[in-house]
Amino acid sequence: MNIKEEASKRKTFAIISHPDAGKTTMTEKMLLLGNIIRSAGTVKGKKSGQFAKSDWMEIEKQRGISVTSSVMNFTYKDLKVNILDTPGHEDFSEDTYRTLTAVDSVIMIIDSTKGIEPQTIKLFKVCKMRGIPIFTFINKLDREGREPLDLLDQIEEVLQIETYPMNWPVGMGKGFLGILDRYNQQFVQFNGNEEESYIPFSEMENEEHREVYEHPTYQNTLEELELVEEAGDTFSMERVLAGEQTPVFFGSALAPFGVETFFDTFIQMAPPPGPRRTKEEVVYPEHESFSGFIFKIQANMNPQHRDRIAFLRICSGKFERGMNVTLARTGKTIRLGQTQQFVASSRDTVDEAYPGDIIGIYDPGVYRIGDTLLEGKSTFEYDELPSFPPEMFQRVMAKNVMKAKQFRKGIEQLVQEGAIQLFKGYPVDSYIVGAVGQLQYEVFQHRMKNEYNVEIVLESLGDRIPRWLNKEQVNPSLFDERNLLVKDRDDRFLVLFKNHFALRWFEDKHKEIELIDLLEVQ
Ligand code: G4P
Repeated sequence: MNIKEEASKRKTFAIISHPDAGKTTMTEKMLLLGNIIRSAGTVKGKKSGQFAKSDWMEIEKQRGISVTSSVMNFTYKDLKVNILDTPGHEDFSEDTYRTLTAVDSVIMIIDSTKGIEPQTIKLFKVCKMRGIPIFTFINKLDREGREPLDLLDQIEEVLQIETYPMNWPVGMGKGFLGILDRYNQQFVQFNGNEEESYIPFSEMENEEHREVYEHPTYQNTLEELELVEEAGDTFSMERVLAGEQTPVFFGSALAPFGVETFFDTFIQMAPPPGPRRTKEEVVYPEHESFSGFIFKIQANMNPQHRDRIAFLRICSGKFERGMNVTLARTGKTIRLGQTQQFVASSRDTVDEAYPGDIIGIYDPGVYRIGDTLLEGKSTFEYDELPSFPPEMFQRVMAKNVMKAKQFRKGIEQLVQEGAIQLFKGYPVDSYIVGAVGQLQYEVFQHRMKNEYNVEIVLESLGDRIPRWLNKEQVNPSLFDERNLLVKDRDDRFLVLFKNHFALRWFEDKHKEIELIDLLEVQ
């Protein structure tokens, strides 16, 4: 099979949601559909707090597949499915955001009883910024949730994206009857613990379905749906693929109900790997030679095993184990011998892979996040990965001042690797490290001690809201500990606002000063 054909069979996506919306349950149901696991409950609960440091393989091994495999792949209906994990809870980190640079589409799960929640908004913004197609699954219909129309309004208003309901729920909670599947023109009947049944709309008035058809909830829903059809947006695949419209599905991951219909539709609609931007041009998956970029590096917590795994997203050509590639940043040739593919709970050696696939390559410490690997004579580099504004900040010092040199070296290397972000106090020089999640600090502290032999002291500045400033508008006298002025690695000024209140107060008082939210502009 040629590369283009192989690439067109790949569906590489991530599931984004707020903790507890049902990501693990949904992933498990997909693995069941893909025959990767045989029974529900295989994906271990991730709430047993002792496993906060998921990023470390040793610990990962003890965990369920939801975190064991940062990538899961399986074949479904002749398509190769790659699901990338976006860790939440205490594992939330910049890696969660970076993962979104390696997918071709995203499933957003929303808990129907809660509506849109903060972590969903953050992850959604990154998808929107990158124009990634987003498919929405509104979960937990077996419980009394918010009205479907309210939920759609909320998505449109808070996330600023058009919605197109692919199906519409008939009742909810105890009175849940099923869904009207607009896309396949059928009623999917909820039968409690029994399997769902599918009845074409054209047969709903037949004698055997009369009871449901005449049910007041069913009739009310038909009316509601008419309203949606008249007032709602029309479906546009083009807009979906541009990330401007999201198809919305209702169901229950746990029941499971509506999951198979959802997954079948999603998997057909979700785009295969497309062209990727490089610094000069655009590279298509069928480009004759292999290329890819590294979006995540997973270090090993165990001091005896300093080896790391770099996660590479293949963008073009064919990967073959043992091939020689060039690391575009340095021009060095590297043989890709030790490679892994991530199949459910095991890590198998991968011999060949195609655009859309993610492979793990052994990293003796040469790779950086964002690195491009190329075969043959190609010389391009993929666009740099965006940096994601941190949300928590800590001042950092070496416990022992005599270790200043190792301290600086350690910080510089870990910052370069993308483990943590560095800021400098201004005008008084001090080191401030920023992270997206607490896990990054734990990893940072541990690696400084183990790899650079420096114990560090962290002093929390709390959660902050970073806003960048235009150079000409920097006036240090306007800022203090509450609204702290600092510089980033590129010498750009930013203010770390203490909270939303402080930010709004400042905005009101200094309307002339432009405050830039990096998540809005990238
Ligand atoms: P997450 O990965 O997004 O954090 O969510 P997860 O799948 O772990 O689901 C969070 C909780 O919500 C779990 O219950 C899960 O069983 C439940 N849940 C998921 N989908 C549905 C659904 O469609 N309907 C209902 N009613 N519940 C759903 P838990 O009691 O917190 O955990 P567990 O003890 O059952 O594992």
